Amino acid sequence: MNSIEVKTGSSAYQVRIGRGLLDSLSAELESALQGQKRPSTIAVVTESNVAPLHLATAVEALRPFGARILQHVFPAGETSKNLDTVTGILNFLAENHVTRSDLVVALGGGVTGDIAGFAAAIYLRGIRVAQIPTTLLAAIDSSVGGKTGVDLPAGKNLCGAFWQPSLVLCDPDLLTTLPIKVLHDGVAEAIKYGVIGDRPLFDLLATRNLDDHLEEVIAQCVASKSAIVARDEFDRGDRALLNFGHTFAHAIEKCSDFTIPHGRAVGIGMVMISQLAYQQGWTREACAPAIAAALQRYGLPTATDFTSVQLMPYLLGDKKRSGNKLTLVIPETIGHCVLKTIAVEELQDILA
Ligand code: GLY
Repeated sequence: MNSIEVKTGSSAYQVRIGRGLLDSLSAELESALQGQKRPSTIAVVTESNVAPLHLATAVEALRPFGARILQHVFPAGETSKNLDTVTGILNFLAENHVTRSDLVVALGGGVTGDIAGFAAAIYLRGIRVAQIPTTLLAAIDSSVGGKTGVDLPAGKNLCGAFWQPSLVLCDPDLLTTLPIKVLHDGVAEAIKYGVIGDRPLFDLLATRNLDDHLEEVIAQCVASKSAIVARDEFDRGDRALLNFGHTFAHAIEKCSDFTIPHGRAVGIGMVMISQLAYQQGWTREACAPAIAAALQRYGLPTATDFTSVQLMPYLLGDKKRSGNKLTLVIPETIGHCVLKTIAVEELQDILA
């Protein structure tokens, strides 16, 4: 069992990681909410793929807590990550008279955590949320750090709020029901943590068997994220490092109409920006081959057929754009990335 604290200016909470931990959900909540008002209603929000696998277990695990338990299931998929789905959750909470002292439990992958977290952030101007990730991607990234939100037609994650959870409970046993392709989609984000600041993690992922090290990998990624979030909760500085590969990734996801999943797109994005950085002389070390080799171990793609002309409108819509400047994350070496701000026109010229 690993327990990692995430401490921000406004909150502190535990990310608890351990096999079989879902069964102890009530006790974990008791401990996380100690000294706070006790929720009398807990609303579990999940999606249609996760519900048949884990909803009943989560609800049973909540029974000892003694609260009224509500369940809300929305259709699975990135296309649900919109304001309509959030409205559905808000109406569900309101119709069931959920109050300020109650709790939302987000049970699922990144889409569920982002949507349910956002609904919790704005319902009654904010109620508490606990995150229970069921994908590797959610476990190591989106469930931790308080970024919540939805996509808009113009791009990914363009509408949202920072809303830190009260608890993140990560049970790696939940990941065993994942199709191997979905599990490996999350590995791209783990490789990202290795490249931005953890060479031993990168080497582990590039050479060892993931199954033997799953809990360790999750814990190392969460520890890295916790340190970054503690320094820069609101993404005004080096939290941007977590976006390594994401500028291209979001454009690829959008261009593919989300048929290319996030992790795969992040893998391609990491290789693209690493190649670009080396070709432009922004870095002296060619990191792309090592990153591509690590991705290929997990059957992850390393290139896209989309042209720069196709990607460009979405690159320009990137939410990390500030005025006519875009901040890119550049690997100087495996284990160390830096931020580079360039004019949008420069990127357009390079890609042209
Ligand atoms: N997923 C990137 C971040 O939390 O900042």
